[in-house]
Amino acid sequence: MKFGYFDDQNREYVITRPDTPLPWINYLGCEEYFGIISNTAGGYSFYRDARLRRLTRYRYNNAPLDMGGRYIYLRDDGADVQQPIFWSPTWMPTRSKLDEYECRHGLGYTSIKSRVNGIEAQTRYFVPLGESLEIWELTVINLRQITADLSVFSAIEFCLWDANDDATNFQRNYSIGEVEVADGVIYHKSEYRERRNHFAYFACSEPLSGFDTQREAFLGAYRGWDSPLAVEVGKASNSVAHGWQPMGSHHIKIHLNPGEQKKIIFVLGYHENPEDGKFDPPDTQVINKHTVKPVISRYMKLDEVGSAFQALQNYWNGLLEQLQVSTPDQHTNRMVNIWNAYQVMVNFNISRSASGFESGIGRGMGFRDSNQDLLGFMHMIPGRARERILDLAATQLPNGGAYHQYQPLTKSGNDDVGSGFSDDPLWLILSAAAYLKETGDWKILDEPVPFDNLPGSEQALYLHLHHSIQYVLDRRGPHGLPLIGRADWNDCLNLNCFSTSPGQSFQTTTNKDGKVAESVFIAGLFVLAAKELAVITRRQGYANEAEGLTREAEKMEEIVWATGWDGKWFRRAYDDLGEPIGSKVCKEGQIFIEPQGMCVMADLGLRDGRAIQALDSVAEYLATSNGIVLHQPAYSHYYLNLGEISTYPGGYKENAGIFCHTNPWVMISEVKIGRGDHAHDYYLRINPSAREEMSEIHRCEPYVYAQMIAGRDAPAQGEAKNSWLTGAASWNYVAITQWILGVRPTHDGLAIEPVIPLDWKGFEVVRNFRGVRYVIQVERQGSGNAVTLDVEGIIIKGTVVPFPPNGTQDVHVKVKVA
Ligand code: BGC
Ligand code: NOJ
Repeated sequence: MKFGYFDDQNREYVITRPDTPLPWINYLGCEEYFGIISNTAGGYSFYRDARLRRLTRYRYNNAPLDMGGRYIYLRDDGADVQQPIFWSPTWMPTRSKLDEYECRHGLGYTSIKSRVNGIEAQTRYFVPLGESLEIWELTVINLRQITADLSVFSAIEFCLWDANDDATNFQRNYSIGEVEVADGVIYHKSEYRERRNHFAYFACSEPLSGFDTQREAFLGAYRGWDSPLAVEVGKASNSVAHGWQPMGSHHIKIHLNPGEQKKIIFVLGYHENPEDGKFDPPDTQVINKHTVKPVISRYMKLDEVGSAFQALQNYWNGLLEQLQVSTPDQHTNRMVNIWNAYQVMVNFNISRSASGFESGIGRGMGFRDSNQDLLGFMHMIPGRARERILDLAATQLPNGGAYHQYQPLTKSGNDDVGSGFSDDPLWLILSAAAYLKETGDWKILDEPVPFDNLPGSEQALYLHLHHSIQYVLDRRGPHGLPLIGRADWNDCLNLNCFSTSPGQSFQTTTNKDGKVAESVFIAGLFVLAAKELAVITRRQGYANEAEGLTREAEKMEEIVWATGWDGKWFRRAYDDLGEPIGSKVCKEGQIFIEPQGMCVMADLGLRDGRAIQALDSVAEYLATSNGIVLHQPAYSHYYLNLGEISTYPGGYKENAGIFCHTNPWVMISEVKIGRGDHAHDYYLRINPSAREEMSEIHRCEPYVYAQMIAGRDAPAQGEAKNSWLTGAASWNYVAITQWILGVRPTHDGLAIEPVIPLDWKGFEVVRNFRGVRYVIQVERQGSGNAVTLDVEGIIIKGTVVPFPPNGTQDVHVKVKVA
């Protein structure tokens, strides 16, 4: 069952009924000001940091789930006063019956339209480029045969900046709220009197009939957002908040002739004043509004709003044009061309902080997460990728390890979580290598980067990468495999934790010094990273060091074969007693997906058939119609020596859920052994668009990946959770574009090595790479994967299109696959 459809032409997903299984959200903003917005206008906004600069309030874990948002109410002022008629044109929060409803989620904007009793209302929400504000552009049309007298009410609830404090510290917060209302603009200035020089504002393009800034005055005592008193009686009370819950609501009266329409603009924004220019006059407590007024008045104009929207569209279209494909499969096309690329960008911006499942309070930018998010992002805005790589490297610790997270506002490591996740530093090598291949910007390696952001500790980025390798080499266990530390990619495989206290964090509690538990997965990742770094090192002119790295990779590989191979698949780890995890000798958790994917990606077993064997085992034991589960059998009870992985009921999360992040590793591995049908089949099993028809089971948005789909051990098998913010975005994008379609940046040029389904006759790719536009046409002429490249009419040797002469704009490549 579907709740909408893809409008690929307009790059939109159109939701046709408001009661989606879960709030289906979108993101506003792509630079510093961000918001999440659901298909019923729920959600909130923040400036740069979802926790510390939260503009508006949202109620997580509420019933209904989606409460708090960017609300507009319409009231039929001509109706019987005894029976007031009012409704939310976005359905929530009044949930009144709508005669028509449509929500269009697009790239950086959302537009929600509905009709009630002949009144059509459409609101388009977006954040203009370069601004820290959002625009709500409301159009009301009278489709009746008679005139309509309507009241329009806007409504937002301000958050008192620190979203965590806002949700918990009521004894103080009920007494700090302050606002100003001037020229129809509502200013939220809690704490502005003391240590903040920023405020929020909420403006409206129309003259007001009234306003409210105190929540209780607007809603009325004991009422909720579904039946605000001010809306019911059709009159705002001009309340001025002093403590309690400051909010913003404008009341506008409009009169529409039959067929007439009216546009009203609302602007919600964030503004900072210079420390010495906060007040005007200076000796008062009145906000200095001179600095913000030009911005407000600019966006009160319809034509400015229109051109800002156009600019936003051009921006997104430009980013997507970097890589467009046309294949026989529409799910591949729309995800690659539109939604997957978009989701990659959202993850780059938001990391794991704010979504319908991430509260924006808990987590900073993950070190391993951000490095992996970069893998699919490089080609869109290489300059921002460069900056991110340097920021990440600057949080690396002097011993080569890494803070697990850092805070976006300060860019410094998060002490609450600390370090000790042994895989973390290796991901930096993968992102740096991908950046070099994409851009050829070798100068980045010379950039001086501090450790732990300590001034004076700077070393070249190149050396940081070597520290990452050394960190892992220095920490090895009894079998010679890397020690796992707190956890590796699987945050919940906590082999040194042994937690018996309720509520103790599995990620940050280490009850063992941990000199025994090892990870085969990290060994695979090490081989991959060491080989990448060896290539970089050789090209930097250090042949001996490069040799050394290659030898370390080979040695690690031998160790994996000696101790990490279980006969039919790679083992997962060794626990604190030195017992294997992910082995046929285990009672539960006999086989895991992660080491199969990672070791084959690192080319282990490609020559001797063991890669095929490992992937056949994945197909036999782990693959389901909804994707590949993390392990089997699921853990049926809590294992003290395994940690959080065994805390989840079977089939959920790390206990045998389907992690959409790890599935692409298997797709890439299938490509490595030449099985295009398998690779693309796995790709489609978790492709959100391909699952659209079963939205009532999948439940999350059909246009973006979710972190997890419930595995075969869960009663809700096939149900997705934690949509949007997940490494699944980047890795699926890499798997389909670089491996299955096979268009892959290398240090020597653009490689084209498709490994596609047998029944594909061919496909096309247009990709910008280092300033050149490659137009690639692939044709299947036989049933294998052998590739012949014809570059501008000349057959070349190998599968890499060499760099064309300077100044070349287009390169046409004809590819035969036989
Ligand atoms: C979750 C993981 C997550 C980890 C780190 C765990 O509780 O289950 O999915 O990666 O926390 O925040
Ligand atoms: C989500 C985390 O953000 C990511 O870093 C981790 O690898 C996965 N969960 C698996 O545990």
